[in-house]
Amino acid sequence: MSATTTLSAAAASATTGHAQWSSRMGFILAATGSAVGLGNIWKFPYMVGQSGGAAFVLVYLACISLIGVPILVSEWMIGRRGQKNPVNTMAQLARAHGHHRNWALVGAIGVLGAFLILSFYSVIGGWALAYMGDAASGSFSGLDKAAIGAAFDNFLARPGDLLTWHTVFMLLTVGVVAMGVSAGLERGSKLMMPALGLILVVLVGYGATTGSFGEAAAYMFNPDWSKLDGKVVMAALGHAFFTLSLGMGIMMAYGSYLGEDVNLLRAARTVVVMDTGFALCAGMAIFPIVFANGLDPAAGPGLVFVTLPLAFGSMSGGLVLGTLFFLLLTFAALTSSISLLEPVVELLEERTPLNRIGATVVAGTTIWALGIAALLSFNLWADVKLAGLNIFDLLDHVTSKFMLPVAGLGAIVFAAWKLEQRSVQRELGLGVGGFRLWTLLARYVAPLGVLFVFWNNL
Ligand code: PFF
Repeated sequence: MSATTTLSAAAASATTGHAQWSSRMGFILAATGSAVGLGNIWKFPYMVGQSGGAAFVLVYLACISLIGVPILVSEWMIGRRGQKNPVNTMAQLARAHGHHRNWALVGAIGVLGAFLILSFYSVIGGWALAYMGDAASGSFSGLDKAAIGAAFDNFLARPGDLLTWHTVFMLLTVGVVAMGVSAGLERGSKLMMPALGLILVVLVGYGATTGSFGEAAAYMFNPDWSKLDGKVVMAALGHAFFTLSLGMGIMMAYGSYLGEDVNLLRAARTVVVMDTGFALCAGMAIFPIVFANGLDPAAGPGLVFVTLPLAFGSMSGGLVLGTLFFLLLTFAALTSSISLLEPVVELLEERTPLNRIGATVVAGTTIWALGIAALLSFNLWADVKLAGLNIFDLLDHVTSKFMLPVAGLGAIVFAAWKLEQRSVQRELGLGVGGFRLWTLLARYVAPLGVLFVFWNNL
C-alpha cells in the first residue's frame, strides 16, 4: 500500500525508511475507517434478518472475539514485522524463518478478494449516494411502506440509474486513491464517523418510540437456537471477516506503517468495539421499524433502504437527518472502498510499468466493469445464476465465505506457528497467563474454528 496516500501525515522512520503513522490515533482511525462501512450498516442488519435473528448475532459476536480479534492482531503483527506490501511481507517473513515462499499466496488471495469485493461494494455505495439525493429532495416524506418499497424496487429495476450511481461512487473512490488524498479523507473521518454514530443513536432512539423496540431487542439478542445451522454459522464467520476487513492484506498493510510502541491488543479492542458498536446500533435502529411496520426482516440487501426512509419520512427533521445519514453512510463506504482499492493499485504499480494514476485507472475500470455484472443481477440478469446464486450474491459468497477466511487462516497460522513465539509474547506485552490464553486462541481456537466451519459446510 502506498505510504503517501494512506498515512495521516506520515513521517518516514529514520531507521527503516518505511513510512510510519504519525500517531497511534491516525492508525486507529484508518483501521476503523476501513472496518466501519456498508458492512456494518447495510449488510449486518439484512444478514441478521436472513439468518433469523439472535442466533446469528451471538455466533457472529463469538466469531468476532474468538477468531476475528486474534486474526486482526496477527495481520497487524505480520505487517509490522514485514514492513512491505502483503505479498512481499509474507514472502520475506517466510524466507527469514525458513518457510516455503508459497506463504506469499496469503497476500495474493487477499488482493484478489479486494478486487472482487470492491466491484459489488461500489454498487451499494451508489445506492447510498442515490438515496442521499432522494432524502434531500424530500422524496420520502409522507410515503407509506408500500410506496417506499415500490420506490426501491423501481430503482433496482432501472439498470441505467444503478449504473450511473455505481459509476459516480467508483469515480470518487478512484479519484481519492489516484490523487493520493486518502490522508485528507481519513482526517475527515475524525468528524464524520462520530457524526454517523450519533445519527445511528438518534435512530435507535426513534426505534424506542415505535412501540416495537422490545420485540427488536428480543429478535437480536434472545436466540432461538433452532434457527442455527451450518449456513448461519458460515454466514456469521464470513461476516466477521468482512466487517473487520480481514483476509485481504489490508490490516497487514496498515500494520506495516506501525511503530514499535503501539500495543496491538489495545488497538484491536478499540477497533473491534467501534465496529461492533456500529453494527449493533444499526440493527437496533432498523428492526424496531421493521416490526412496527410489519416489514419482512428477511427482505435481503434492500432492508436498510426500505426501513430507514420510512422513519425519515415520518419523523420531524427527517429531511435533514435522512440526508445527513446517507451522506455519512457514503462517507463511511468511501473510507472502506479506498482501503479496498489501494492494495490492487499497489500491486499493479509494483508489478507492471504503470504509474500510480495509470494503475488506479486500470484497476478502477476493471472493477467498475465487473460491478456492472453485479448490478445487472438486480434486473436484466436476475436469472443468470451459478450454483443458484446470481452474480452479485456469487461475488459476495465467494469472497466472504471462502477467500477471506482462507487468507485470514493463513495469516494466523503463520503468526502462531511459524513466527518465533518468544518475540510474539514480547510484542504483545503479555505475561505468562495472558500469553497462554493468546496461544490457545491463536494456535487452536481460531484456526480450528475456521476449519470446523469449512468442514461442516462441505
Ligand atoms: N469492512 C468494510 C465494511 O464492513 O464495510 C468492508 C471492507 C473493507 C471489507 C475493506 C474488506 C476490506 F478489506
